[in-house]
Amino acid sequence: MQDVLEGILKIGHGQFLCLSAAVASRGKVPPLHHIVYFRPVSRSRLDSSYTLHNGWTTSSRGQCHAGRASHWGPFPCGDGLCHGFAFATRRTSWRQTELDQSSQPLSPSSILLLLCSSPPPPSASSNSSRPATIEVNGKTYTTDEWYNVPQTVLTLTGRKLHLQKDHPVAITRQIIESKFPTATYKRYNEFDPVVSTMENFDSLGFPPDHVGRARSDTYYINETTLLRTHTSAHEAELFRASASDGYLISADVYRRDEVDRSHYPVFHQMEGARVWDRTKVPNGDVVAAIYADLAKLPTHGVKVEDPNPPHHPERNPLQSEHHTPEEAEAVAAHLKRSLELMVVEIFTRAKQAAARLDPNYVDEPLRVRWIEAYFPFTSPSWEMEVYYQGDWLEVLGCGVSKQELFINADQPQQLGWAFGIGLERIAMLLFQIPDIRLFWSKDERFLSQFTGVQDDLDKLKRFVPFSKYPACWKDVSFWLRSTSAAGGNTAVANVHDFHENDLMEVVRDVAGDVVEDVQLKDQFTHPKTGRMSMCYRINYRSLEKTLTNEEANDFHERVRQGLVEKLGVELR
Ligand code: DAH
Repeated sequence: MQDVLEGILKIGHGQFLCLSAAVASRGKVPPLHHIVYFRPVSRSRLDSSYTLHNGWTTSSRGQCHAGRASHWGPFPCGDGLCHGFAFATRRTSWRQTELDQSSQPLSPSSILLLLCSSPPPPSASSNSSRPATIEVNGKTYTTDEWYNVPQTVLTLTGRKLHLQKDHPVAITRQIIESKFPTATYKRYNEFDPVVSTMENFDSLGFPPDHVGRARSDTYYINETTLLRTHTSAHEAELFRASASDGYLISADVYRRDEVDRSHYPVFHQMEGARVWDRTKVPNGDVVAAIYADLAKLPTHGVKVEDPNPPHHPERNPLQSEHHTPEEAEAVAAHLKRSLELMVVEIFTRAKQAAARLDPNYVDEPLRVRWIEAYFPFTSPSWEMEVYYQGDWLEVLGCGVSKQELFINADQPQQLGWAFGIGLERIAMLLFQIPDIRLFWSKDERFLSQFTGVQDDLDKLKRFVPFSKYPACWKDVSFWLRSTSAAGGNTAVANVHDFHENDLMEVVRDVAGDVVEDVQLKDQFTHPKTGRMSMCYRINYRSLEKTLTNEEANDFHERVRQGLVEKLGVELR
């Protein structure tokens, strides 16, 4: 019944045990399937009692996200049973997955239970130190008990790296913009990061219980105001304004996340859309108008794999109430060519940059493919993947915009496509930047390497790493309590609602950019008391200096105290 598929155990129809979230994050799990993440624990504890818990856990953020339906226990795997922790989610986008409340048990012998509940209301005690008001970019906002933005993150709201001359994020933005003519695509690069829950979620059709809304994942200022989690938050207002046939937005976005070399609580996205108005095209023939616009686009010589049908009734449906198949196919064809041209430009520049540094650089042909995807605000939807250093890498999400967006924006006669792309991820590839913290560094050894590139993109070169300072890792072990409050600014973490992102935030708050990554090393449940113990390894490494052992100890001691004060854990 089971077969092992590139590190993924397949257990029956559409369900997988993922032995590591990283495997799923490389796009090997088809979208729209249930993904069951599984973290094995040792077989030696096969007979111990396992605690059922409804805590959140994280997977490799990047493509797959957190779920909170979980269970400890034996699972069928490979040649027998192995024990571990599992949760099931339904993938909705490269950064978001939807908790699927209807999942069937994995197999008759599996004892996966899916416990789903909305997060309890935040407890008043959980953020007693919260300021009554905060200021972001000169505007004042009133906080309430939903407030969960640390000062370190607030400070970053003013940095606007996408607009900082010769910053790699700004260079990447410029390269992308260069493939979308200004006459059609109006630029919006100064939108405020503070938006409403309506703009960020409701206007885009996110269901009320969508996992992305959780306080453990999103920075809230108050119950209805947050730091945008994606640039799509501005889509509805731009459709309503209907100021141009298309637009490009670039902006900073915010997500509570794990700590490692490719995740940072702030990053940048670019969003684009192209619309057509049925009442304005010649003879009212929107299909002909779209194909005429497509014919004006350049072609490219890159091989693109696009094995799926243009839409599929279950996997990737046509909005049949609103679009004819011909209309959706025309929109998709324009969308795909436009985005392929952009990606070809980026990867061609990346290769040129590599060749400038290394004359022996061997140029591998670029491979691009389209895979089916799901977003609440597009249908059909796709992700584009690029073959890079031996792996398929997701680079963007896109689709035919849901017609409800146009209807709600009082533009029912319009239709079109939209896409979103993360800039740091592309910049890391383009320049070979190894650590996302570097983007925030003010170190001249970093910034000076990009001087003059925005004025002459042909000067683009790969980043030459300066010497790495030594790392200093330290472990922290603690017991979780048996009862308490909610995820996201949790006052007292217990087995039911301990969320790793809360721990990540305590660490970031204390040590900021001096933390390179934080990893769970071990966890177990005491067979008699049922209490859970966790051990995390924190890797301290400054980008700017060698840390002395005292400095690392000082950070670590403050992290330990922070965990006690903010999460209520009991240190071991
Ligand atoms: N907002 C999505 C994300 O952050 C990306 C995205 C997907 C944007 C599809 C779009 C779109 O405009 O059509 O994961």
